[in-house]
Amino acid sequence: MVTYGWASLLDLPSLEQIEKDCFTTEAFHRRLIKNLLMNPKSIVIKATLPTGKIIGNIIGVTQRVGDESVGRIFSLCVLAEHQKKGFATKLVRLIEEEFVLRGVKRIKLEVYVNNITAQQFYKRLCYSMSTIVLPGFYSDGTDALVMIKGLP
Ligand SMILES: CC(C)(COP(=O)(O)OP(=O)(O)OC[C@H]1O[C@@H](n2cnc3c(N)ncnc32)[C@H](O)[C@@H]1OP(=O)(O)O)[C@@H](O)C(=O)NCCC(=O)NCCS
Repeated sequence: MVTYGWASLLDLPSLEQIEKDCFTTEAFHRRLIKNLLMNPKSIVIKATLPTGKIIGNIIGVTQRVGDESVGRIFSLCVLAEHQKKGFATKLVRLIEEEFVLRGVKRIKLEVYVNNITAQQFYKRLCYSMSTIVLPGFYSDGTDALVMIKGLP
């Protein structure tokens, strides 16, 4: 059975490896992951096998936009051999719950223009595609699309 919990600095090497396994060009580097793990505005949730192996994680942050608190999902990853079992869906549900507790009314995220899998995944979870396109957002020059969801 997979369990879910807050990630800590002890998880840094595993999270760095998961990022490398999931993202070829945009993997978060160790220092960024470390900063996110230490930042009180960040939320880092891991999915762990009974063996202790981390098989997925989600990273988000709350940001102040005017007088509104906006949640941003920075990274979501489940290792390929564990996909299509609902683990990412659970990670998103958990971060949404945490955003609600932190007073967030709106979540936004960027997704690769050609990452149809992720776009469909988020659509199923009621994220809608905004009209915003961020040209050359990613380091390989690919554009990002912005997806948004309102929270109750
Ligand atoms: C996108 C990603 C996080 C999805 O992870 P996942 O764990 O496979 O997600 P889930 O299992 O929760 O859902 C995936 C699909 O499997 C289906 N599914 C879930 N449980 C299932 C089950 N028990 N049996 C069959 N299908 C199932 C879901 O309905 C979903 O379908 P959809 O994509 O059409 O909505 C994963 O593909 C990934 O890490 N990709 C690489 C990194 C990436 O692109 N991240 C997103 C960047 S924004």
